[in-house]
Amino acid sequence: MKLFLDTANISEIEKGLQWGVISGVTTNPSLVAKEKASSFHEHVKKIAEIVKGPVSAEVISTKTDDMIKEARVLSALDPNIVIKIPMTKEGMSATKKLSEEGVPINVTLVFSPQQALLAALAGATYVSPFIGRLDDIGEDGVGLVYDISKLFLVHDFNTQIIAASIRHPRHVFEVAAAGAHIITLPFKVLEQMFNHPLTNIGIKKFLEDWEVYIKDHGN
Ligand code: E4P
Repeated sequence: MKLFLDTANISEIEKGLQWGVISGVTTNPSLVAKEKASSFHEHVKKIAEIVKGPVSAEVISTKTDDMIKEARVLSALDPNIVIKIPMTKEGMSATKKLSEEGVPINVTLVFSPQQALLAALAGATYVSPFIGRLDDIGEDGVGLVYDISKLFLVHDFNTQIIAASIRHPRHVFEVAAAGAHIITLPFKVLEQMFNHPLTNIGIKKFLEDWEVYIKDHGN
């Protein structure tokens, strides 16, 4: 199981890598737009150079041929680039063509097991079910990961599940238990995962006891 960061922010990526727990990055047009980079391509290239693992960059086009053109340009930026393609009919035609050429595809905006099945049949390397957005409308995001995982297992698909749209640390544990191969996290959730009040209390107590010991016995 792997953790990716769901961000286009360079300093968040650098911190996540430094902590030793992140092995890839996913971006989307909203996340890239937030960074206000002067060149989208340069920005994605920079992320890929830093990460040295899969970096998903999303196409903006809606027509198959245009998606393919965009994907080829993005792919040429770095060998670690994964092309993110939305779950549409046009998107699946592009997924089929590009995966046959060996381009890794992450099918995004997946909200049902049926859509995940279509992505796997089109040859996607990854499928991204959006957990939080389903929860937001009163549906069961974690249940979707469980259903996709079961479907892929029963039918022996190699497509990996990237649980996306993660809102809080509990989601992380739940989607991991439900069978996600990868979880892509906002930086805030990654930071929250480190925290537990008993860890802080424990460190404080160990240091206090150590101080007393050093005072009494020296080094
Ligand atoms: C997935 O790769 C998307 O970038 C993502 O997780 C979107 O999540 P959101 O619902 O927080 O925008």
